[in-house]
Amino acid sequence: MYDFTADPALPKPELYRQLCAAADALTAGERDGIANMANVAALIWEFVPTLNWSGFYRMVEGELVLGPFAGRPACIRIPLGQGVCGAAAQSGETQLVEDVHAFPGHIACDAASRSELVVPVFRDGGVIAVIDLDSPERARFDREDADGLEALAALLADRI
Ligand code: SME
Repeated sequence: MYDFTADPALPKPELYRQLCAAADALTAGERDGIANMANVAALIWEFVPTLNWSGFYRMVEGELVLGPFAGRPACIRIPLGQGVCGAAAQSGETQLVEDVHAFPGHIACDAASRSELVVPVFRDGGVIAVIDLDSPERARFDREDADGLEALAALLADRI
């Protein structure tokens, strides 16, 4: 049995440090990327408070395709440059969106989502996936969340 629990009152840097340590322990030595993404999506869900979606989109033949996640069913394919995920994948830059209603082209998978954080995962200089977090709270994410998720993305680069 795996029993990873986090104290949501922890300062964010410590919360993400513990999340990365748990993700490292769960994915080390496992070569199946789908299994690793599935466990990490569930870990993010366990560790990070106030989310309504956590998961992955994978780069497949030039577009993003839904990967393992926790939350409601989501749109399956996202062209590069479209929505928050497509913007992250195309630019290679983390997208920190305080209010998704104000983001041109935002793709609403769950009407409850108000803010979003999307971080690219790089391998060999290219984007191979993005990690997407959604929250029903406006301005839920800040630079500390982005730093924590970027560290997680770096850890996963050769494990997904
Ligand atoms: N809102 C995202 C789409 C994915 S869902 O949030 C799970 C976007 O605009 O790219």
